[in-house]
Amino acid sequence: MANLWVKKSLASLMEQASDSEKGLKRTLGAWNLVALGIGAIIGAGLFVRTASAAAQAAGPSVTLSFIVGAIGCAFAGLCYAEFASKIPIAGSAYTYAYATMGEIVAWIIGWALIMEYALGAATVSIAWSEYLNKLLGNAIPFEWCHSPMEGGIINAPALIILLALTLLLIRGTEESATVNAVIVAIKVAIVLIFIVVGFQFIDPANHLPYFIPENTPPVLDPKTGKVLIDYAPFFKHGYGGVVGGAAIVFFAFIGFDAVSTAAQEAKNPARDMPIGILGSLAVCTVLYILFAHVLTGVANWSEFADPTKGREASVAYAITAHMPGYGWLATAVTVAILAGFSSVILVMLMGQSRVFYSMSQDGLLPKAFSELHPRFRTPFKSNWILFVFVGLFAALVPGSVAGDLTSFGTLLAFVLVSLGVLIMRKGETAGEAANAVGFRTPLVPLVPILGAIVCLGMIVAIDLTTLASAFIWMIIGLVVYFTYSQKNSKLQS
Ligand code: ALA
Repeated sequence: MANLWVKKSLASLMEQASDSEKGLKRTLGAWNLVALGIGAIIGAGLFVRTASAAAQAAGPSVTLSFIVGAIGCAFAGLCYAEFASKIPIAGSAYTYAYATMGEIVAWIIGWALIMEYALGAATVSIAWSEYLNKLLGNAIPFEWCHSPMEGGIINAPALIILLALTLLLIRGTEESATVNAVIVAIKVAIVLIFIVVGFQFIDPANHLPYFIPENTPPVLDPKTGKVLIDYAPFFKHGYGGVVGGAAIVFFAFIGFDAVSTAAQEAKNPARDMPIGILGSLAVCTVLYILFAHVLTGVANWSEFADPTKGREASVAYAITAHMPGYGWLATAVTVAILAGFSSVILVMLMGQSRVFYSMSQDGLLPKAFSELHPRFRTPFKSNWILFVFVGLFAALVPGSVAGDLTSFGTLLAFVLVSLGVLIMRKGETAGEAANAVGFRTPLVPLVPILGAIVCLGMIVAIDLTTLASAFIWMIIGLVVYFTYSQKNSKLQS
C-alpha cells in the first residue's frame, strides 16, 4: 500500500548532496549566488509595476509598499536560507517539503513551482519580445511577434531568447553564471544612474500628499468614459493603498528563492546559500526603495494613472517629460529592461530544470529529466524539454495569462517552506540542534509563523480567475501523481 506521507530522511538527502562524482558540479561561490538572485529579482516588477502600484493604490507611498513586500519576503527568505544551507539539494522547496511534510506535499509544491519558474519564464519572454520591438521602433512585423490568439502567427523573438538562454544553460552553470553577472552589472548600473540623476529632478510637491486621498475622483478612459481606476475601495487609498500596492509589487521580489535551486552547485552551501538568498534580497530592497522614491518624485503619481500621459512605459515617460537633456537615459532604461528580462528568464529556466532534476532523481518524473550532459554535467535533456514547453506557451499564448499564476506558485511555496522550518525544528533533537551546521532561522516559531501568515494573506488577495486556473493546474498535477509518480517513486518501492 502506497504511503502518501512518506518522508525522505535527512541522512539520505545529505548523501545525495555530497555525491559530487556523478551529480551536478559545485562551481558557484557567494558572489555568483548573490548575482543569480539579483538576476532573477530585478525585472518587470521594478520597471513596470512600481508606477502601476503608485497609480492604482499607493501614490508616493509605493515606497512603503516596497518595504511591506520586503518584510513579507524576508520572513520566507530566512526560512529558505536555513533549508538551503542545511539541505543543499537542487530541488529547493520541493525537497524541503519531501524531508518535512511527506511525498504528496512535496509533489504538490513541485507542481506549483512549475507555475512559478516555467510560466514565469514564458511571461517574461513575451514581455522581452514587446520591449525589443519597442527598442527597434516596431520594426518586427506584428504577426511575427504575436501569438495566434492575438491575431499573429508566432511570437518569434520570445522563442529566440528562450533558445539562446537554453543553449547557454546547457553549455554550463559556470558560463551561465558569468553571463548572468554581466547582465546584472548592466541593469544595476542603469538603475543606479536613474536614481542618482533622477534625485536632482525630484519635485518635493510630487510627494505630497504621501497617501492617495480617499475622495480622489476615479480615472476614466478618455475614449469610452469607462472607469479605469476607482480609488474608493479599502486597498486603493490611504494606508490600505500601501498594502494594495505591496500585493502589486510583490512580483518584483520573486526570484530570490531561485537561488536555493542552485544549492547543489554551490561550493560552500552552508555559508554561501544564506548570503546568496538574503544578500540578493537586501540589495534589491534598497534599490527598489530608492527607485520608487525617485520615480514618484520626478513625476506625479497621477500621471502614471493617466492614459494620455505615463500609464504605459512609465519610467521612460517620467524621464522624457521631466528630465530635460536625459533622453538617452530613456533608451538606456529600455536596454536595462531587456537585460533584466533576459537574466530573469535565465535563472527561472535554470531553477525549473533543477527542480525537475530532483523530482526525477526521486522517481517522480521520468529519468530524462535528471540525465546529465556527458561533458558539461548540466541536465541537458531537461533543458530541451523545458524549452519546448515554455516555448509553446511563449509562442502561442498571450502574455497577460501567466503573471498572477507566477505569484500564486511562489506564495504557496513560501507558505510551505515556512511551515517546513517549524516542522523540522520540532522533529530536531537537542543534540542535532546543537551540532547543526549552517544557518538557523532566528526567532522560531515567530518568523516562520509570520512568513506563512503574510504569504497566505497575499494568496487570499489574488483574484478568483487566477485561483481557479491554479486549482485546475493542481488537479492535473494530482492526476499525474496518482497515475505515474506514485508508482515510480523510489521511496515507495
Ligand atoms: N522579480 C522578477 C521580475 O520582476 C520576476 O521580473
